[in-house]
Amino acid sequence: MLAEREAAQAALAESIIDRHDSQGDADIRRLAERYRTPVFGEVDTWELVLMLGQCVDPTDRRLGTASQLLHVLQVLDMMIDDGVTDEDLLLVALFHDLGKVLLLTDEDPANVVCLNHRVSGEPGGGIGQLTTQWNHDEFAYTRLDGLLRPDLLQLVRFHSVLPHELEPYLAPSDEAFARTLHTPFSRYDQESKSTVLHPKVRIDDFRELVRRRMPSRIEI
Ligand SMILES: [Fe+2]
Ligand SMILES: [Fe+2]
Repeated sequence: MLAEREAAQAALAESIIDRHDSQGDADIRRLAERYRTPVFGEVDTWELVLMLGQCVDPTDRRLGTASQLLHVLQVLDMMIDDGVTDEDLLLVALFHDLGKVLLLTDEDPANVVCLNHRVSGEPGGGIGQLTTQWNHDEFAYTRLDGLLRPDLLQLVRFHSVLPHELEPYLAPSDEAFARTLHTPFSRYDQESKSTVLHPKVRIDDFRELVRRRMPSRIEI
């Protein structure tokens, strides 16, 4: 019985990924239009971070049923173990998956989770002309616009594209971003995932940083 339910979950995950990967230009425009206006309204910023504790990505086998808040703590753990002290990088870890709060709505998870791939854009043409599927990256990007440094905001927008898939579309002016931010962050984001590891850090350890660096409420 358990094995059957697990097989059904695996099949569901595959169907979500298939629907995500089949998004076309019209779907991407429709989703961008749908989320132009607030979904939750103005929410206390710390409560928003904590809402990730209710969000589970049904397609992420490396996280299993761990919440997105646990994922954020695993990312922060790996960064801190690596000696990262840059507050901007810690902030981007805390907020990069904020868009996954859409999992708490009736939106199709295929439009919220999954890795993104190129939909349109020319090799060497630069990140600015690259279009990918629509997911939590773009949602968080629109909500954090003006609240994070522009290069960190761009990182939020493209963190679901793996570095080797982004690389062909970079212009020379994007190379520093890719080398110093996108590739290192992608390693923390992807390679910290575990169904076993208990994070050493606690979310409250970052409350003061969020209070100091972010507005008290975010319209989302
Ligand atoms: Fe993500
Ligand atoms: Fe992530």
